[in-house]
Amino acid sequence: MTTRSSVLSSALSSPAGAAPHVLDRCRELVRPALEEAVARLHPWVGEMAAYSFGWCEVGGAPAAAAGGKGLRQALAVLGAEASGAPVRSGVAAAVAVELVHTFSLLHDDIMDGDPTRRRRPTVWKAYGTGPAVLAGDALFALAVETLAGTPGGQVPAAIRHLSTALNDLVRGQADDLLFETRPWTGPDAVRPDEYRAMAEHKTGALLGCAAALGAVLAGAQPAAITALDRAGRHLGVAFQVIDDILGVWGDPAVTGKPVHADLRRRKKTFPVLAALAAPGTQRLALLLDSPEPLDDTVVRRAAVLIEEAGGRAAALAEAHRHIAAVDACLDSVPLEPAAADGLRALLSFLLRRES
Ligand code: IPE
Ligand code: IPE
Ligand code: MG
Ligand code: MG
Repeated sequence: MTTRSSVLSSALSSPAGAAPHVLDRCRELVRPALEEAVARLHPWVGEMAAYSFGWCEVGGAPAAAAGGKGLRQALAVLGAEASGAPVRSGVAAAVAVELVHTFSLLHDDIMDGDPTRRRRPTVWKAYGTGPAVLAGDALFALAVETLAGTPGGQVPAAIRHLSTALNDLVRGQADDLLFETRPWTGPDAVRPDEYRAMAEHKTGALLGCAAALGAVLAGAQPAAITALDRAGRHLGVAFQVIDDILGVWGDPAVTGKPVHADLRRRKKTFPVLAALAAPGTQRLALLLDSPEPLDDTVVRRAAVLIEEAGGRAAALAEAHRHIAAVDACLDSVPLEPAAADGLRALLSFLLRRES
């Protein structure tokens, strides 16, 4: 089995970018059930969902666009396997969390005003805001319907688990939006622990749910369910911190998302909070606190100052701390070794990802 230190050292020494095979294996395993679920939607709404998954163009012509990384469905399949749950539980969990994830992205892009995702116009840009809201709602309802229709006695517990994650996700999104109007410095500035709670809620809750849902569906031991959920939540904070880094220094051609959008919207991302905690960053604070809209020149200057103040390095260190916590959670209960190794391969990939 991979050890804690080997996950971190392989993450640091491996070349960036190459996705582990486990993502492809899980995508292929889940795709038929996901297509079957999406086919039940109203055709127009189904087209928006298929567009978002990269299966079609606007208008419905078939396409093979990149789509998402499929992290949550892989976590669901591996988490189920790790707990000894049958494949059907992992696939049912994967379909539910991937639908919820897509729903959350459709609505998030409206909230954040972002024009691109997965290297294409966002659904609200391509189809309009009203239709994108509707498609998100439909995906949410479809996720619950699919889970409710899964055979087996543990469905109510699974729906409760998913609902708790969704409530947390909403809480995290609310804080993320409210933080935009909080000052960068002074007594009302967002503290690192507030950031961590926000990131655990908006991103970690669904990752924790993904990792644990198959185990819940199969009635696995509570200790395994708790460990998988906690692992996913820590993974979510690490994942969000890396997302923050990519939002400042990523290549939009690779991430498929806009660069510097978080800075322009004054999102309280980890690299900026860490940079402002360093001494001598008054110039950065002054730039960011300007009441004027932050134009391209200003945000480019801010990105340089954040890096010089150590914000990027501090964010990477924060991500590593949470990945170490994921490893500890996975070590805390007996898990099926091959699936636990698959989960660790994912951790290592997520630390060095570029999209
Ligand atoms: C994006 O998630 C939303 C965040 C929580 C940061 P992903 O980066 O997993 O998005 P896709 O599915 O690969 O596009
Ligand atoms: C996404 O957070 C979290 C949810 C969708 C719930 P972000 O807004 O930080 O993610 P990206 O960068 O748009 O993918
Ligand atoms: Mg966003
Ligand atoms: Mg957002």
